[in-house]
Amino acid sequence: MPRLYRRGLAEALQKSAAGYFFPYEFIESNWRLWTFLIILAIGMWAIVTYPISPINGYIDPFYSPTVLIVPIPGLFRLTCYAYRKDYNRHLLHHPLACDNLQREDAPTRKYTGERNAILQFENLHRYLLYAGILLLPFFYYDFYLSLTFQNSLRVGSLVLLANALTLTAWTLSCHAFRHLIGGNIDCYSCAPAGNARNLLWRFQSRWNSHHEALAWISLLMFFFADLYLRGLTAGLPIDHILFKF
Ligand code: FES
Repeated sequence: MPRLYRRGLAEALQKSAAGYFFPYEFIESNWRLWTFLIILAIGMWAIVTYPISPINGYIDPFYSPTVLIVPIPGLFRLTCYAYRKDYNRHLLHHPLACDNLQREDAPTRKYTGERNAILQFENLHRYLLYAGILLLPFFYYDFYLSLTFQNSLRVGSLVLLANALTLTAWTLSCHAFRHLIGGNIDCYSCAPAGNARNLLWRFQSRWNSHHEALAWISLLMFFFADLYLRGLTAGLPIDHILFKF
């Protein structure tokens, strides 16, 4: 939906009865942040209240060793540029834009660079990225384990693979990763392996331009994988063998 039209719709809704009951963010453009917070809350509640055991060779992504260290993926996502844009602009109302000229949110509240506590905390993101990258292989291991059960490829295996791939696409399209692999170089022809790094940087930049969408898709896929396995545990006939080795 074109941005202007979306904005008009959001404003119309805000003025209507719906706007009385729902926070502006629910009908404007901040759905990604809200879905993240809701999924995080539901996930934490479900992990504690309705734990599920590995079933038919599948390990729920919420119980994979990856997420035993929940704070890391949680903080990694919370400090992601996509989400920080959401809560800085829509919840904290500061800073409102990337453009320096627009950063004076109010005469009394000038943008002073990344010096306040929240913005400094967000800078931890580059370190959380390293942890996030280290966690990725575990998701592929869960996929591999699912293949070894009955030596078959099943629908659930594809769900785990899709989860691993979308998490990988989101993580490796990160802005901090872009900086790490080549964005920090001023002169490629002077740097060691400069051409290769330039190629890599340009390839990653393509994915990086879709980072916000990937942030949301990977989140929804993670949640879907959890729901799928909960459905299996509840006895729903949703898993089928697609291929036997
Ligand atoms: Fe989104 Fe790094 S900026 S994961």
